[in-house]
Amino acid sequence: MKKIALSLILSSILLAPAYSSAEETQQQMLQESRQAIQQFGKHLKGELQAAMKQGGPTNAIQVCNEKAMDITSDESNKSGVTLSRTSLKIRNSKNAAEAWEKTVLQQFEERKNNGESPKKMEFSETVEVDGKKQFRYMKAIAIGQPCLHCHGEKVVPEVSDKLNRLYPDDAATGYKLGDLRGAIVLKKELN
Ligand code: HEC
Repeated sequence: MKKIALSLILSSILLAPAYSSAEETQQQMLQESRQAIQQFGKHLKGELQAAMKQGGPTNAIQVCNEKAMDITSDESNKSGVTLSRTSLKIRNSKNAAEAWEKTVLQQFEERKNNGESPKKMEFSETVEVDGKKQFRYMKAIAIGQPCLHCHGEKVVPEVSDKLNRLYPDDAATGYKLGDLRGAIVLKKELN
């Protein structure tokens, strides 16, 4: 069910009408990206909370490991919209930041260091990649209380053992509440 809801939102981005100006396109894309990402975030959080309730963080690792990207993989090729998660400190190397993503994450980090809360940080631009227009959007993700179980400074041995087994090169621990964890990235091919 949830998957269907997300796919509806993503396809609404695809089916959006022709726009009168680049400015309008940008604004429209921005709004739709915010919506899609909010849904994605909610969905992930819901799955995570349910798994934590059922079997604690050790059980919930499975959700992050297997489900996080499942949720979006169906959408990616169909609609030209891709969603992903990335960070400057990566757990799964598949989530490693591209050069432009790294630059944006570093800007977010700088803003955080200047006292801004990551909760409202976002970035968007339209660029040309290989002669094709691409809209890109990033929304910062902050560390909340539940995240600390698996990304915090003190991860219980049962959880860290499992994480080490799955991700021998894990760099995504040591975070404090409110830290910038990374970002959700949305990309859409425009032509
Ligand atoms: C139960 C353990 C667990 C909890 C709780 C958890 N995560 Fe994760 N997180 C993981 C695992 C495992 C991965 C690797 C996912 C994968 O293989 O794609 C991950 C990956 C990520 C990534 C992708 C970047 C990377 O390092 O690979 C982000 C961003 C992220 N988590 C943010 C969060 C946030 C924000 C919270 C709190 C709302 C949270 N996580 C809570 C286990 C957890």
